[in-house]
Amino acid sequence: MSKLIIANWKMNNTISDALNFAKYLKKHAKKQKSMVVCPPSTMLYEFSKSVKGVCSVGAQNCHYENSGAFTGEISPAMAKDAGAEYVLVGHSERRKNFNEDNEIISKKIASALKAGLKVIFCVGETLEEKNKYKSVLKKQILEGLKLANNLENVIIAYEPIWAIGTGKVATLADIEKVHLYIKGLIEENFGTEIKVIYGGSVKPSNSEEILELADVDGVLVGGASLIAEDFVKIVESRG
Ligand code: PGA
Repeated sequence: MSKLIIANWKMNNTISDALNFAKYLKKHAKKQKSMVVCPPSTMLYEFSKSVKGVCSVGAQNCHYENSGAFTGEISPAMAKDAGAEYVLVGHSERRKNFNEDNEIISKKIASALKAGLKVIFCVGETLEEKNKYKSVLKKQILEGLKLANNLENVIIAYEPIWAIGTGKVATLADIEKVHLYIKGLIEENFGTEIKVIYGGSVKPSNSEEILELADVDGVLVGGASLIAEDFVKIVESRG
């Protein structure tokens, strides 16, 4: 099974940066892994046109309503219309900086799935919560998936908050342990398998050992995905 390499550009880059990135990707990335790039929404349309057939594109966020008086928001249908196949939901930066709780997240997931988007559902514990990661993740996952009627198009991204943008990566043993826990939890509660990817300071120097873990189905890359050369190195790492 091909592992998934997902780039989260966060609030970075311009349309011309995105087009240069697309050009580099087309020239250098051999297609042995599935790639998804999530640029800011202003670049979705141009970027997705320019990487057709090379990589998939995702939005970084969406509202749970399909249209209406929600100034500044974009709906799942709009993200799809602009070329997104995926959407990130529940990223810790949105939970923390935009007060998104599990209830909002569950509405977003249900509505994105209904619109035909694939959901990259982000969960993770803080450093203080590290020794009770099971209960923290269980709550985030079960409450977040409360309104989803099918998990076929859901991928869970395990991103320990203390590892995001800090250069601190979870140990390989911890990654494996948590991914197994999440897969077991989904099996137990939904009777189905799910892909679980890891995120948090993934870069070319550590991507290979992470991607080689049996229960890691891919990686979600923030900082290192802004540099096309680094992103391609991660895509081309073994595992
Ligand atoms: P990072 O971000 O790779 O810069 O740690 C990961 C993320 O926030 O998805």
